Amino acid sequence: MKKLISLLLCMLMVCACASAFAAGEKVGVSMPTKDLQRWNQDGENMQKLLEEAGYTVDLQFASNDVQQQLNQVTNMINGGCQVVVIAAIEGSSLGSALDLAKEKGIPVIAYDRLLMESDAVSYYATFDNYKVGTVQGTYIKEKLDLDNAEGPFALEITAGDPGDNNALYFYQGAIDVLKPYMDAGKLVVKSGQIEFTDVATPTWKTEVAQNRATTVLANYADGSNIDAWLCSNDSTALGVTNALEDNYDGEWPIITGQDCDKSNVKNMIAGKQSMSVFKDTRTLAAQVVKMVGQILNGETVDVNDTSTYNNGKITVPSFLCEPVFADVNNYVELLLDSGYYTEADLK
Ligand code: BGC
Repeated sequence: MKKLISLLLCMLMVCACASAFAAGEKVGVSMPTKDLQRWNQDGENMQKLLEEAGYTVDLQFASNDVQQQLNQVTNMINGGCQVVVIAAIEGSSLGSALDLAKEKGIPVIAYDRLLMESDAVSYYATFDNYKVGTVQGTYIKEKLDLDNAEGPFALEITAGDPGDNNALYFYQGAIDVLKPYMDAGKLVVKSGQIEFTDVATPTWKTEVAQNRATTVLANYADGSNIDAWLCSNDSTALGVTNALEDNYDGEWPIITGQDCDKSNVKNMIAGKQSMSVFKDTRTLAAQVVKMVGQILNGETVDVNDTSTYNNGKITVPSFLCEPVFADVNNYVELLLDSGYYTEADLK
């Protein structure tokens, strides 16, 4: 009898543990590329946290190649993943894989970038993308003291990849802050390139941003200054910085960014980039791992936005994490004290 009771107790304990710890369910994680620092970090964080939670992980990077990502996601779905998490290279290009997921009843979480034109997207977890732009635009507004200073000030703009739904949010958030000053003639864009399509950077690549910035700089060959260069993220800010170093003799402009990539934080410390927006990839990964658990346990999934992110087919229930302003004055606390980077990372 005693033996039977202890056996029953044992079984109860095993059951209790199993519900807190996933029983090896497989989760697919598809990241766009290893080329940019952030996606490596996102992938690593996701893998680590999912494995710690007891899941098996199929993590794939797609070399910024849409077809490759399509194949990888299709294989994840056919290979028995019970949830698939995707940071898309191009939001609208994964249609057939998403249809397959829907057919097989596999939930899909859009990671950081929204998956477009599909009703197979269950949830979206990201940072507040419009707010990222607002933070960048407000920084320029305040640094140039646009409400009080006479101006006019010269501004140039470099935005992100048109295939990435986030890019327009970043751009719009910043432009909504700066537009009134452009309309009033206080901010002048000498290149005349203001519209998103004119200032976009396909693939977000540093070299692409650098090439366009070099062309734009021809407008300043007369020795005039650029006061601010709105850059939507760090990879494009790096391109603009490189172009300025090679082709510009005027006063160094305010340059914005996003992600706090190592090279850009080094540039911030060196006075070459003014600010960045810190999106702690550990926070996003933790939120998504929580979502995965809630989905697989049949629990209510935490979301905090059910109206903003319409993907052309449905409005996707979303969780928006908070982006944080970063500059040379707070990077130690934000990035080093929090363990995000080591001092050696920034040498
Ligand atoms: C992300 C940014 C990143 C950019 C380029 C965007 O979707 O939200 O953090 O800088 O892609 O990879």
